[in-house]
Amino acid sequence: MSVSDLMDSMEYGPAPESAAEALAWLVDRGDRFGQFIDGGFTSPGETFDSKNPATGEVLALITQANAADVDAAVEAARKAQPKWARLSGHQRARHLYALARQIQKHARLLAVLETLDNGKPIRESRDIDVPLAARHFYYHAGLAQLLEDERPGHAPVGVCGQIIPWNFPVLMLAWKIAPALAAGNTVVLKPAEWTSLTALMFADICAQVGLPKGVVNIVTGDGAVGEMIVAHPGVDKIAFTGSTEVGRKIRAATAGTGKRLSLELGGKSPYVVFEDADLDSAVEGLVDAIWFNQGQVCCAGSRLIVQEGVAEAFLDRLKARMAGLRIGDPLDKCIDIGAMVDPAQRDRVAAMVAEGAAEGTVYQPDTALPDRGCYFPPTLISGLSSASALMQEEIFGPVLVSTTFRTPGEAVQLANDTRYGLAASVWSESINVALDIAPRLAAGVIWVNGSNMFDAAAGFGGLRESGFGREGGWEGLMEYLGPERAAKALKPYARPDRAPEPEPADPLDRTAKMYIGGKQARPDSGYSRAVHGARGGLAGHAGLGNRKDIRNAVEAARKAQGPWAAASGHNRAQVMYYIAENLSARAEEFAARISALTGAQKTSAKAEVEQSLDRLFTYAAWADKYDGQIKGVPLRGTALAMNAPVGVIGALCPDEAPLLGLVSVMAPAIAMGNACVLVASEPHPLAATDFYQVLDTSDVPGGVVNIVTGPHAPLAATLAAHMDVDAVWSFSSSDISGEIEQAAAGNLKRSWVNHGKARDWAGPEGAGREFLRAATEVKTVWIPWGA
Ligand code: NAI
Repeated sequence: MSVSDLMDSMEYGPAPESAAEALAWLVDRGDRFGQFIDGGFTSPGETFDSKNPATGEVLALITQANAADVDAAVEAARKAQPKWARLSGHQRARHLYALARQIQKHARLLAVLETLDNGKPIRESRDIDVPLAARHFYYHAGLAQLLEDERPGHAPVGVCGQIIPWNFPVLMLAWKIAPALAAGNTVVLKPAEWTSLTALMFADICAQVGLPKGVVNIVTGDGAVGEMIVAHPGVDKIAFTGSTEVGRKIRAATAGTGKRLSLELGGKSPYVVFEDADLDSAVEGLVDAIWFNQGQVCCAGSRLIVQEGVAEAFLDRLKARMAGLRIGDPLDKCIDIGAMVDPAQRDRVAAMVAEGAAEGTVYQPDTALPDRGCYFPPTLISGLSSASALMQEEIFGPVLVSTTFRTPGEAVQLANDTRYGLAASVWSESINVALDIAPRLAAGVIWVNGSNMFDAAAGFGGLRESGFGREGGWEGLMEYLGPERAAKALKPYARPDRAPEPEPADPLDRTAKMYIGGKQARPDSGYSRAVHGARGGLAGHAGLGNRKDIRNAVEAARKAQGPWAAASGHNRAQVMYYIAENLSARAEEFAARISALTGAQKTSAKAEVEQSLDRLFTYAAWADKYDGQIKGVPLRGTALAMNAPVGVIGALCPDEAPLLGLVSVMAPAIAMGNACVLVASEPHPLAATDFYQVLDTSDVPGGVVNIVTGPHAPLAATLAAHMDVDAVWSFSSSDISGEIEQAAAGNLKRSWVNHGKARDWAGPEGAGREFLRAATEVKTVWIPWGA
């Protein structure tokens, strides 16, 4: 072949990476692995095969952990935790630094082992997965070092059960273990059954660097082992990455246990291309978005939404590019697409494509696939309607689906037409278009003119059914920290033990209405209940709200939320100051009401009103000051961490401070741009119903605050199960935390419940950053940015 022929064909030969070192490492360990518990490996037990998906060959035998193994791992972690937490941040930083160094030192071995085990191209494991894993440990060494100064008043959560998937085995391990350790927790981690090898090598590294025994424990096996970790009473927090289906099960299984939970689940991320985009760059970006790691990426840009005028040209260029993708031996450094992780996953993808393909037009380049191994060709399915299953379901393979749009508004509508909300890309050369669209995309991570950029400093995580919690950055670290204070038990509210006075015959109806959509609303049930004061006298009647009232309130809140969030923080602050002003004008009246309802001394009732005013001022102050951050990422670009509202928040207000409790819950929610549905204190609803008169006169747009009265348990169940509610908070003294968390599994909404623990509403724990964090989602927006 002449040089000019070569220039035409761009043919080039194979450049295989040697597997020898990695295979020797396996042989060295007897090709069989036990569990890594309390600093050492146990003898292998009942084992299963771990195979190389590119060849089908068995790489090693992995032990299926049993209940005794999980017990031993949790016990080791428990024993090690207090000592680990007592180390200074600097001492923990040294350990994390040592882990980072060893990962770098063994980078090539880890990369080859990862590729053998998972099938991903060596280019990716070598240049992306392993360097990012090392970066994660470096970054978190820094967080450990700075923690005491930067986040005082926090304590580690305890023992963390961490369950990770097979698509980025070593990287997900780093995302889980580094923040947990930095914050002073110990861990029991379970890799996915198809890809345990790099976790086991990491266990070796932990032993090599002298990490204290029991700080990291690794147990292997399938979902049953995951279930044991989730159910284990000695585990304080579960961090899970994997399918939405399993995430939902874990939410339900941990409901009511008090275990902390973070979930990073599936996605169907939109990739929006405007007609003024640099189409060639957008094609390259798309190759990275959907064919990186064979499309087995939770945040894969798997849904192309391209503007009609350029759709044909764009798809033509894309097809030409697809035809040039090299598919084959993942250890070959020239390969673009390697093997899928397992025949089961390939078959799942193939079945989905076969089932849905008839609805659209399928394109697959006629590139030959290797004779053996687990391969699937890059696939493009165009012409699908947005309702089709392939447009809605996560495929988790090298399959791109596409549709077109005409206007920016339509692009946003299509992009957000999904139950997921993990990531999104927007491509336009116009800064106005790109930065107008980016904030309107419902996703935790947004890439402007890019895709699949990750860094330890930049929070990663989703909204909606993509889960909750962030990984990376200070926001990720907070998932592993809790308040230092030990909370006391919350006593269930006891009604004063006095016989109510007979109800006076009052010609005036004193039935308080509820407050929905900015209007007073009668309860749908048509029923109300008598509310007695502390001395037993009739204070009035309060509506018995039901599910219909909650539904109306949620609908009103949803309608109001967008415009309220779009108002500036300054505007929201003004409204909140105005609420305070109007409450202040009626302070005496409110104090008298609180005193009559609760039996509080006049002075403490007055203090409650004063504290409520203080709280309104606090969050009015925060409304334009809870700033995001600009993350220094080691890539050409920058990542903005924006504090975006959660959306519609439903909250069960505390019983012990009827006005202050309600204000303390409402104020952070609305300051951050949320709309809320507040269920008033069950025994003392009248403080809340008086309060809506204040709202009415304070320019609060209708629907931003809705107040429902009635029994907490049934109303909480409706709120928590409602698919259009984004978060539920409960500070109720009724025992409903478990039910709320259980029902929240439906749409995987965030929940923040008290688990029967008290909070001092008048003290510092009644306000502050904990509330602001609960009222916001960190949205990470990656933008191109100078040098
Ligand atoms: P999976 O969610 O079942 O597995 C993830 C991890 O959870 C593994 O370590 C597994 O052993 C463990 N696990 C399974 N059942 C469990 C349970 N009941 N309790 C606790 N742990 C449990 O994911 P799978 O079956 O490997 O893949 C199925 C589909 O899930 C894929 O086709 C893809 O659509 C999606 N997926 C999404 C991922 C993501 O990062 N978003 C990662 C892996 C899979």
